[in-house]
Amino acid sequence: MNYQWYPGHMTKAKRAMQEDLKLIDLIIELVDARMPLSSRNPDIDELGKNKFRLVLLNKADLADPAVNREWQDYFQKKGIHVLEINAKSGTGLKAIQGKVQEACREKIERDRKRGILNRPVRAMVAGIPNVGKSTFINSFAGKACTKTGNKPGVTKGKQWIRLNKGLELLDTPGILWPKFEDQAVGMKLAFIGSINDEILLKEELALDLISFLKEAYPGLLTERYSVEEKEALFVLEGICKSRKCYRKGQEPDLEKAAGILIDDFRNGRLGRISLERPGEGRQER
Ligand code: G4P
Repeated sequence: MNYQWYPGHMTKAKRAMQEDLKLIDLIIELVDARMPLSSRNPDIDELGKNKFRLVLLNKADLADPAVNREWQDYFQKKGIHVLEINAKSGTGLKAIQGKVQEACREKIERDRKRGILNRPVRAMVAGIPNVGKSTFINSFAGKACTKTGNKPGVTKGKQWIRLNKGLELLDTPGILWPKFEDQAVGMKLAFIGSINDEILLKEELALDLISFLKEAYPGLLTERYSVEEKEALFVLEGICKSRKCYRKGQEPDLEKAAGILIDDFRNGRLGRISLERPGEGRQER
């Protein structure tokens, strides 16, 4: 299938983010742990070139644990601070405060030398749609947070969430759009649901997903749907049979079977699956 992306309000969102960037020290960049490179917009490197950076591999619960570790090593080797998290359950969030301190050590030292004590690090969350930014802000800030917007000394109209005396978070995340020239990247974004399903053909998406899974996780489709892992269409017809997807007159309903497979994948019912690993496909610029 030819994967297309229509960038919608990208320019407007980017401009809004540029304005917000003037107010912060640290960008907390959320990426999808299943595809950390394909789920980030490389513009962020340019936009945030004078900022401290922390990358969070979110939805780590849906990704292959061994590959998560490989990605941690990958970012660490590049000198980028990184953590695996599950924003939905809260797993991994406790370690963030320490990482923020590490990532912003230079600023904290600089402040200390100038006699400025306890000036909080100001951070913003950024990432592509659906990567989990709102979920993260809600669970990270939790109930304990206090909004500090519209107070003297605080930029008017901006809401800050004071997490503790060392860290304040802008409550509106920076939205970046996924970017791809490469069809393989578009395909992965479609698998995780980051490209609007309405513009995609479900059956074709399912066939591409089957081809990927057969190759990267052999045996998994057989285990879940009791199908032989032959060519993709054969497997989709097998899912039809095993899930009893028929239209009137016993005609196989491939679209329904495709929907079941895609849903099972997105909800983690096929197990923990990573769509890319370091050293293959798109690389960091
Ligand atoms: P956004 O602001 O970046 O656009 O993303 P948002 O927080 O709305 O999250 C998008 C979806 O991803 C939500 O699911 C959310 O629950 C889910 N999600 C976020 N973080 C994680 C995570 O670490 N693990 C898992 N498994 N899921 C996560 P939804 O289907 O849109 O909503 P709901 O069914 O959870 O209510």
